Amino acid sequence: MKALVRHRYGGPGVVQVEEVERPTLEDDGVLVRVHASSLNKADWHDLRGWPRLLRPVTRGGVLRPKSVLIGTDFAGVVEAVGKDVTDLAPGDEVFGGRHGAFAEYVSATNVVRKPPNVTFEEAATMGIAGLTALQGLRDHDRLQAGGCVLVNGASGGVGTLAVQIAQALGAHVTAVCSTRNVEQARALGADRVLDYSRIDFTRERERYDLIADIAGGHSWPAMRRVLEPEGRLVVVGAHGSRNQLRHIAAIKLGSLRSKHEVKFFVAKFNKPDLQTLADLLESGQLRPAIDRTYDLAEAQDALRTFGEGHVRGKLVLTI
Ligand SMILES: NC(=O)c1ccc[n+]([C@@H]2O[C@H](COP(=O)([O-])OP(=O)(O)OC[C@H]3O[C@@H](n4cnc5c(N)ncnc54)[C@H](OP(=O)(O)O)[C@@H]3O)[C@@H](O)[C@H]2O)c1
Repeated sequence: MKALVRHRYGGPGVVQVEEVERPTLEDDGVLVRVHASSLNKADWHDLRGWPRLLRPVTRGGVLRPKSVLIGTDFAGVVEAVGKDVTDLAPGDEVFGGRHGAFAEYVSATNVVRKPPNVTFEEAATMGIAGLTALQGLRDHDRLQAGGCVLVNGASGGVGTLAVQIAQALGAHVTAVCSTRNVEQARALGADRVLDYSRIDFTRERERYDLIADIAGGHSWPAMRRVLEPEGRLVVVGAHGSRNQLRHIAAIKLGSLRSKHEVKFFVAKFNKPDLQTLADLLESGQLRPAIDRTYDLAEAQDALRTFGEGHVRGKLVLTI
């Protein structure tokens, strides 16, 4: 099969399309003919081999990546099912996640049916970004209906979905994004939109029951100022891959003695949560925002654009 591969860590220039062996079907998994995939920061970090110190743990190779494959999210058609699989059959249209998804075939267990009202491209945007938004707001912040939530970084892959999921959970949503994305955030259902180039949300009078911090850029004392006394902060990431660990560490250290709940979490693939995303897609409560679609052969361009860090919603690769 054709797949996007890299033989060393590096920038977008190290990837190329090559023939590789098809993945083997697992007893409890399905083999999927991939139609579309989408880019995530996790793929970017995998490509670069960041963070370097954690390479042996996270990438399996200190000098070279253990796996030449790359990519995680996918949507496509089931080609074959493992002997223990009872809920899916060949020909089913599905989406999910598994390492090595920028390829013609992927073998995976975390797979659910794609709702008929969304395209493969749309379903391929759900995996990491959708699960991060869902788990961040629902599990880690225990968002209550009627609560006030601020999404800092509302215009990228995770942020566009977080705005919609917070709405679906019944919250009053304030979205923070750049000038060019204000209209998009309104269209996605945000009740209030703050342009970060004009307004610093940490200097306003409004208070929030929770802040979903996707873009970083603000210190713990600044964010604490605009949290309600019982308010919570969930740290998802930070703009600029290299800043991320520093930002998370600074917030965690700064908030050690605080009465506020401050959490960092890493999203996990599981079928029930993918099914929740499928249900939200089917009901129309979740509308994926796709900035641009690229062919697999244009993957270097897609990765370059993604690396600049100002994508509106998601970038999709069609396979
Ligand atoms: N914890 C987890 O499990 C998990 C999972 C997935 C992702 N993440 C992390 O979450 C972060 C976002 O991921 P993503 O996939 O959504 O990335 P993305 O698609 O590249 O989006 C990043 C967004 O941040 C916005 N931004 C940049 N500077 C900003 C600022 N100063 N204030 C507000 N927004 C700003 C950009 O929008 P503008 O163009 O409007 O500036 C961009 O759209 C990354 O750090 C990623 O590593 C964590």
